[in-house]
Amino acid sequence: MNELMRGEKMKSSCRILAVLAFSMTALLSSISPIDAMDLHAWSDSEKAVLQSLWIGNLPTLPPDPSNKYAENPKAAAFGKKLFFDSRFSGNMKVSCATCHPVNRNFADNLPLAHGMGRTDRRTMTLVGAGYYTWFFWDGRKDSLWSQALGPLESPVEHGFTRTQSAVIIYEHYPDEYNEIFPSIPEALPEHDLSVVASPSSDDPALLKKWLTIPPESRDAINDVYANMGKAIAAFVRTIVPEPSRFDRYVEAVMSNDNEGMMSSMNNSEVKGLRLFIGKAKCTNCHTGPLFTNGDFHNIGVPQPQNLPPDRGRAEAIRKVLADEFNCLGKFSDAGRRDCAELRFIDTDMEKYIGAFKTPTLRNVADRPPYMHAGQIDTLMDVLRFYRDLKPGERSADLDHGDLTDLELEYIEAFLKTLSSDLRFAAN
Ligand code: HEC
Ligand code: HEC
Repeated sequence: MNELMRGEKMKSSCRILAVLAFSMTALLSSISPIDAMDLHAWSDSEKAVLQSLWIGNLPTLPPDPSNKYAENPKAAAFGKKLFFDSRFSGNMKVSCATCHPVNRNFADNLPLAHGMGRTDRRTMTLVGAGYYTWFFWDGRKDSLWSQALGPLESPVEHGFTRTQSAVIIYEHYPDEYNEIFPSIPEALPEHDLSVVASPSSDDPALLKKWLTIPPESRDAINDVYANMGKAIAAFVRTIVPEPSRFDRYVEAVMSNDNEGMMSSMNNSEVKGLRLFIGKAKCTNCHTGPLFTNGDFHNIGVPQPQNLPPDRGRAEAIRKVLADEFNCLGKFSDAGRRDCAELRFIDTDMEKYIGAFKTPTLRNVADRPPYMHAGQIDTLMDVLRFYRDLKPGERSADLDHGDLTDLELEYIEAFLKTLSSDLRFAAN
């Protein structure tokens, strides 16, 4: 099997799961009143939906042909150090872990993230991030490694530059770097490194300085910078959820183990699960073992008044196509044929105005607030938001039957069963 087919196969298997879950949901929408039924008796089609959401169905991590170090344990160990190193910031205080702390599912508890300044969006959890095709709420990056390079040069996040980053690698990590990547290019005269410069910054002075560096040194600095991203990505990929109570419940359902079912989820939680895959139609988008289809939807979350308008995915299509660190760029390890997702990207901007990535619901109860700008404080308020969408305002995907307060409580109880410990590369 060639590289392209392999990549495509991984992606299409995720898609088949999504389509399967979608059609199952359609079949189940005429569910009978949950209080009157044998809660644990699932039909074959319902069992298929449960199995599609089960963590045991999480495929092995898809390869990232654009990052040939993605599976390299030394790169992951190095990336982990970089992830926690706050020297890569303008005030020596911000690391990736500032906003993505381990003990909070690699997310913070703020509506809008804080680094050197305040961002206009909420921090996303990193759980299962290695499975996505697009990154950020709007998907403006097409790989985990190119994603990692964004926050470093964002003035409100790390407030750093790629030249400063290369200096830190030279000074503090030369051996680790040289062991994994081709040796740091000799072409890099010391004086070029001392320039605080960046082509991607909003600051024209930094861009001007970048252009004073000779092209071969710029390439060398970009190489070191891209490799930093590749090491960080090798670490972030390893962050995956452990089985939750919900997963244990599904295992019991699949082996007809009544006792196992009752000991892993209580009646309210099971009622919530029935609603989630049935009447409430949540599995129209929250599909597969990570409870996301990885796609972009405008579900009508109101824009915060004090922030500039955010058009979400519609603006990101242009950005990812123009990104020097994308799959087709010269720092990518992929061949053209590996970049089908980018080459055949859906460019229908109209469709994606105000659309954001469907977030995973793994561990969702543990990381309020919610939505792309932290607009909603609690899980119950998220459910009220879905319930209160007027029939005329909601898309067909969100066209669930009327949900009662009690039903919302059941769904909330179910969502709490998705919490579990996380697993990630230890060193
Ligand atoms: C100032 C806080 C902050 C810092 C520092 C930060 N992030 Fe983030 N992270 C965010 C925010 C906010 C988003 C969503 C941004 C957006 O959509 O525009 C995000 C999104 C992400 C995503 C996308 C997840 C997904 O599902 O698409 C990944 C991966 C990630 N960050 C990794 C990192 C790494 C690696 C670093 C360090 C190099 C880092 N972050 C530093 C706040 C931060
Ligand atoms: C049409 C696709 C779609 C459907 C159907 C849908 N969601 Fe969502 N969900 C999304 C998207 C997209 C977001 C993020 C929206 C944003 O931030 O603007 C989201 C956000 C959430 C969040 C917040 C998670 C976070 O980390 O911020 C929760 C919780 C949630 N959905 C649960 C549900 C439940 C429960 C249902 C069923 C009642 C449901 N969703 C139905 C697409 C959908």
